[in-house]
Amino acid sequence: MSPLDLTVDLGRGLRLRNPVMAASGTFGYGLEYDDLVDLSQIGAIVVKGLSPQPRAGNAPPRIVETAGGMLNSIGLQNPGVHAFLAEKLPRLLERNAIVVANVYGEQVEDYVYVVEQLSGPQADGVSGLEINVSCPNVKAGGIAFGVDADLLGALIARLRQCTDKHLMVKLSPNVTDIAMLARIAVQAGADSLSAINTLLGMAIDLEARKPKLGNVTGGLSGPAIKPVALRMAWQVAQAVDVPVIGVGGIMNGADALEFICVGCRAVQVGTANFQNPQAPIQIAREMESWLVSHGLAGVDGLEGTLNF
Ligand SMILES: Cc1cc2nc3c(=O)[nH]c(=O)nc-3n(C[C@H](O)[C@H](O)[C@H](O)COP(=O)(O)O)c2cc1C
Repeated sequence: MSPLDLTVDLGRGLRLRNPVMAASGTFGYGLEYDDLVDLSQIGAIVVKGLSPQPRAGNAPPRIVETAGGMLNSIGLQNPGVHAFLAEKLPRLLERNAIVVANVYGEQVEDYVYVVEQLSGPQADGVSGLEINVSCPNVKAGGIAFGVDADLLGALIARLRQCTDKHLMVKLSPNVTDIAMLARIAVQAGADSLSAINTLLGMAIDLEARKPKLGNVTGGLSGPAIKPVALRMAWQVAQAVDVPVIGVGGIMNGADALEFICVGCRAVQVGTANFQNPQAPIQIAREMESWLVSHGLAGVDGLEGTLNF
């Protein structure tokens, strides 16, 4: 029995068991970890990004280890939204997992289609939708939705019309003014914001003079990005009134609590899952011990209490 009530209500039907979610793309569809982890103990599982049709992803190699982190160019490999709803979701719900579906698209119509499918009767058990806006818009010359104020505002406003479910917008860090984009997403109808997705990076093999990733560039994640993520989560939390979910380089309870201290309501854990699939559960326990030892009744006592 936990000494504290760690549940977090993010609004519009999304209630987390505790403040630590498994980040999209780093925990598969949860079921891959079924033998190792009690899925019902995780705050929520954000599944790998879903598109209208199955996608094979990018050419290998797709993962490279870097100093304090990793680069990935998985390219949003997934079985498509219909296979997710038919094959994965029922099994996740049997295990009593709280499920957030991550949505990916190359054009507005892709997002609309997936969000509509995830809002229909066969998706009743999906508690919230996380919109990955770090994808290139093929109709706008490949610029990512999340780096352009007009594209982002139009996309989120359109999706708001398609669903009554909780809409979490996952912000891209590959921008100069994340606070401005955060405000745009909220004005367009986001219920919460997650910050941040991976930072665009590159690694090369000097002797071969070749890129290490098949896709040449990829997304940097892990402890190396934590200071950037913390700075951006802090800026976002100051800019908006909706809950902010901190993501980036969280490896332990103290890391997670730092994000709460700068104004986040909850966190997501990504790269740490590759080292230890129990990481989200262990991090939630470490957070709880710290809160108890500091006389706090929950994370809300720490949220946004940074002193200057
Ligand atoms: C292998 C891999 C795949 C990812 N796939 C997705 C994805 O499908 N959708 C998404 O929004 N973010 C995706 N991400 C980004 C993570 O959810 C997270 O935002 C990022 O890795 C930063 O957190 P971390 O440092 O704790 O890993 C992926 C990250 C990794 C490492």
